[in-house]
Amino acid sequence: MRTTLLPASLLVLAIFSVAATIVAQSPKPGPARQDNLPKVARGKYLVEEVAMCSECHTPRNERGELNRSRWLQGGPLYFRPVRPNPDWALEAPNIAGLPGWNEAAAIRFFETGRDWAGKLPRPPMHQYRLPRADAEAIVAYLKTLRSGSR
Ligand code: HEC
Repeated sequence: MRTTLLPASLLVLAIFSVAATIVAQSPKPGPARQDNLPKVARGKYLVEEVAMCSECHTPRNERGELNRSRWLQGGPLYFRPVRPNPDWALEAPNIAGLPGWNEAAAIRFFETGRDWAGKLPRPPMHQYRLPRADAEAIVAYLKTLRSGSR
């Protein structure tokens, strides 16, 4: 009896330890990873969910809601600085399709904050210093959008 019980209990122990190892090595649930999305999808995610570009670059209706049919097509800003700033831009330009921007200049703009002439944008536009891959993804996404009639 003893001689058959010992190998059986050793086998159970071995199975248990293999199962425990598999459970320990399986990926833990956590926030969804975004850095392996295809380029355009990642650009859309950065524009819409991270940098919230549409808050300024999408026009609003009379109730102050974003006008989805004119997504990122520019319009008057809905806020002003508390202290007057003569440099403040009153409108956000149309960036759907990035009219007037070639791809290389646009990527540099999001990497360095400067346009093709070396000029920084006026506030409240941010001077972005993004990693190259993020700048490329944003430009790839914006280039897929239909440009407005503005
Ligand atoms: C807080 C408001 C605000 C946010 C947020 C914002 N922008 Fe802007 N953006 C502006 C304004 C205002 C200008 C115009 C600046 C000027 O006239 O110098 C501008 C200018 C630009 C320009 C230059 C367009 C041109 O033709 O001159 C681009 C491109 C641009 N923004 C893209 C983006 C993107 C992409 C994001 C998000 C990653 C973003 N902006 C977020 C307000 C904003």
